[in-house]
Amino acid sequence: MPGEPWWKSAVVYQIYPRSFADSDGDGVGDLEGIRRHLDHLEWLGVDAVWISPFFRSPMADFGYDVADYCGVDPLFGTLEDFGRLVEEAHERGLRVLVDWVPNHSSDRHPWFVESRSSRDSPKRDWYLWVDGTADQPPNNWKAAFSQTEPAWTWDDATGQWYLHLFLPQQPDLNWRNPDVVGAMHETLRFWLDRGVDGFRMDVIHALVKKEGYPDVDDPWLSTDRFDEPATHERIRAFRRLLDGYPGDRVSVGEVFILSTAKVAEYYGDNDELHLAFNFPPLFAPWDTAKWRTRIDRVVEEFDPRGAWPTWVLSNHDNPRHRTRYGGSEATARAAAVLLLTLRGTPFLYQGEELGLLDADVPPDRRVDPGGRDGSRAPIPWDVSPTHGWGDRAEPWLPFPPEADVRNVEAERADPTSVLHLYRRLLAARHDSDALRLGTWQQLPSPDGVLAYERVLDDDRRVVIVNFTDADRTVSVGGDWTVDVASDGAGEGGRYAGAVAGDQAVVLRPP
Ligand code: NOJ
Ligand code: MG
Repeated sequence: MPGEPWWKSAVVYQIYPRSFADSDGDGVGDLEGIRRHLDHLEWLGVDAVWISPFFRSPMADFGYDVADYCGVDPLFGTLEDFGRLVEEAHERGLRVLVDWVPNHSSDRHPWFVESRSSRDSPKRDWYLWVDGTADQPPNNWKAAFSQTEPAWTWDDATGQWYLHLFLPQQPDLNWRNPDVVGAMHETLRFWLDRGVDGFRMDVIHALVKKEGYPDVDDPWLSTDRFDEPATHERIRAFRRLLDGYPGDRVSVGEVFILSTAKVAEYYGDNDELHLAFNFPPLFAPWDTAKWRTRIDRVVEEFDPRGAWPTWVLSNHDNPRHRTRYGGSEATARAAAVLLLTLRGTPFLYQGEELGLLDADVPPDRRVDPGGRDGSRAPIPWDVSPTHGWGDRAEPWLPFPPEADVRNVEAERADPTSVLHLYRRLLAARHDSDALRLGTWQQLPSPDGVLAYERVLDDDRRVVIVNFTDADRTVSVGGDWTVDVASDGAGEGGRYAGAVAGDQAVVLRPP
């Protein structure tokens, strides 16, 4: 639509580079692997990719511990590989977002090595060092991924504690120090100058910590650990920086706060994040009433501010939605219809378009300190025994279940596959201004069913999602044609006033 930024109508596809595609046979995905599969993404019909971190990293948190914000880890390739990838993606009309991890660096980042070297180091104040004694952490804050460990590590050599909201190998940067702000702005410019279309910004709500480091009620999650006004101020500066570039560069913040009202605040007065993840729907069970509430919250909190919502069911930090909803493919298909027809920008996670389940990772192959290996299993590309992966080495994680039939090659050949459903849904969005940008209005529906209408000018679509496994009569008034059905049934035919159990449909005027 003219006048609207591209990211409002886009569907963004998350690539977790270790697990997407491997070009050199070492069992770990890489940038060249992504480039070689751009065809597939174009065929699928997504508009943009977000690539999880591929920067130089000791991989304590598989790339979310960055040792060089402007360098590619040799495991993933080179800066030239990235340049080629961006160029070829752009040639196909695909935008590229990179993952920016500003809250913390790796403990091997030269900044931290220097900071740690002495109390007088010019970079000492780039991280968060606090006095104390070795037996008593400065407060009750806990490190993510651990049940018990403090968010502080004692440095014997210099006799102070440093803060890390995540692993000890991920020291938090001091966002009150203007030199840190300046240096990190440079890293944004570095990638913007290389043509990236925007950033996914990691744990962005946590940047500036509350002065005095108070004890809090919930030592893992509480937002009382953070100085919100100062954090919002930092985000406004990122926004100004991005908006200073041509082409609607976008920021999508990982605002890991389980209150939608709070998340909405990170859009500011249309002067902070362009987009923010809102995770409460992801954590909701597959239940009509729960989903209705989650959607209502978004409408109430986002609409008055003119904030554009995002929707996400799966990512690299959580079990895949098919796994969470109990493993049923039919449910996962209905959820895809919901995800791709709500008002806002949907984010897909690689492999959900194949209907993948989490891999069952045996204890001796578990590698993630946060227990998230299952959703990070490699994408099976073909029907061969190695599924398009390393001839030299086993992939770094085992394949998801049913990889012999649930792979790109097999599903592309089967028009009834989950992959083809995603493709039809993406095509339906491309065909309809209402689905991409229209209003969202709930329609009356029986128990266990969510029905809504999307309208833009004279373009209209109706969506019906049956959360139950029983057939339901749902009359929506007037004559409608089935545009897309989650099970493919009756597409192109007249809507007969009922949906099957676990079915979801998109209806268009005849
Ligand atoms: C959120 C990322 O999605 C997750 O994978 C990572 O472990 C943490 N932030 C820390 O960077
Ligand atoms: Mg490789």
